[in-house]
Amino acid sequence: MNLLARTGSVLPRPAQSGPANGAQAAPLAARPIIEVHSLTKVYDLKAGPVLDNVSIVVEEGSVHGIIGRSGAGKSTLVRCLNGLVSPTFGRITVSGREISALKGADLRRARRDIAMIFQHFSLLSSRTAAANVALPLEIAGVPKETIRQRVPALLDLVGLGGKADSYPVELSGGQKQRIGIARALALEPTVLLSDEATSALDPETTEQILALLKDINRRTGITVVLITHEMEVVRQIADHVTVLEHGKVIETGPTFDVFAFPKSPIARSFLSSIVAHDLPPEVSNGLVATATAETDPVLRITFTGVAAHDPVVATLVERFKVRPNILHGRIDYIAGKPLGIMTLIAEGGEPKLDAILSYLSSLGLHGEVIGHAVRSVFAGAHRAHS
Ligand SMILES: Nc1ncnc2c1ncn2[C@@H]1O[C@H](COP(=O)(O)OP(=O)(O)O)[C@@H](O)[C@H]1O
Ligand SMILES: [Mg+2]
Repeated sequence: MNLLARTGSVLPRPAQSGPANGAQAAPLAARPIIEVHSLTKVYDLKAGPVLDNVSIVVEEGSVHGIIGRSGAGKSTLVRCLNGLVSPTFGRITVSGREISALKGADLRRARRDIAMIFQHFSLLSSRTAAANVALPLEIAGVPKETIRQRVPALLDLVGLGGKADSYPVELSGGQKQRIGIARALALEPTVLLSDEATSALDPETTEQILALLKDINRRTGITVVLITHEMEVVRQIADHVTVLEHGKVIETGPTFDVFAFPKSPIARSFLSSIVAHDLPPEVSNGLVATATAETDPVLRITFTGVAAHDPVVATLVERFKVRPNILHGRIDYIAGKPLGIMTLIAEGGEPKLDAILSYLSSLGLHGEVIGHAVRSVFAGAHRAHS
């Protein structure tokens, strides 16, 4: 509240009255702020494309995560967004301006709207925190009086109001990145690009910086594009996510949907550190693909939202006369929403599978038969445990 009041004139406001001050506003019709159409980038013909026909839309005011392994093309993509790298094919628009068609002074002007923070902060060691934040304003020829007012507001925004006169060498990694964020916000950009900005920081500091980015996004409505190879980062703060693999988009959509129902096996295995999509091998090795007289179906039930587990399991027992044998279960929070995945052997469930699956879907749950458990294998396993 206070912060918004102090910085309201410094930073962009939500273009369409987004949820300022953390209040829960009704979702608005999303407007795209970044549109990437069929972007292909080739550095070296022999090596092939680094980005291959990439199309994504970033909604205004959202936090959009871009995840992928090292070498997937994330940094190249983000450099195309701010015009540091020019596409081989394709078109990129940011705030309605076609970045990929701009040159010279026009491109430099457009770039002011698209700020970037980096892993290694790149602060000038000879300048104080305040002077580092002031630098882009000086370069842009902003009047001294405006700089004098804006810099303290920016330092306050990142929680470093007391460190104006400190030099980078006197600041911790987290504090340096806060200065990097304040500096990036100095020219009141509408988009903030973050390329692995927390990967040099310890986990606790990473959490704090992420919380700060999310907070700035909520309070000011700035759109954040967050490049990372850490799924955990995306799980915590991204509204939307794009998964890149070998320069191709393999998934893109709301974070919860992508994490809960990844469409591709690659994304599925990629997200497995966060969501228990795949069973432990000790269990999955005991499953077979087709049902026989010696098997029972294995159900994976995905709970999204608030559906409770107990009535489901009890109903399987009472109504369907199935004996559920729970193999695996976990609840994760993705973008603030609970996602539960439970895998169970539905002993005696084979003849009633259709009825069971329609019962689950009537509750809004996602039920799926992921294999068949050979009775003797699992009976043996249980004896071994007891
Ligand atoms: N300027 C460049 N010239 C040639 N190849 C590059 C250049 N920048 C990146 N690459 C190559 O493009 C691929 C993707 O790199 P990058 O976009 O940095 O991926 P990521 O950020 O996902 O790790 C890598 O194989 C990398 O070697
Ligand atoms: Mg990179």
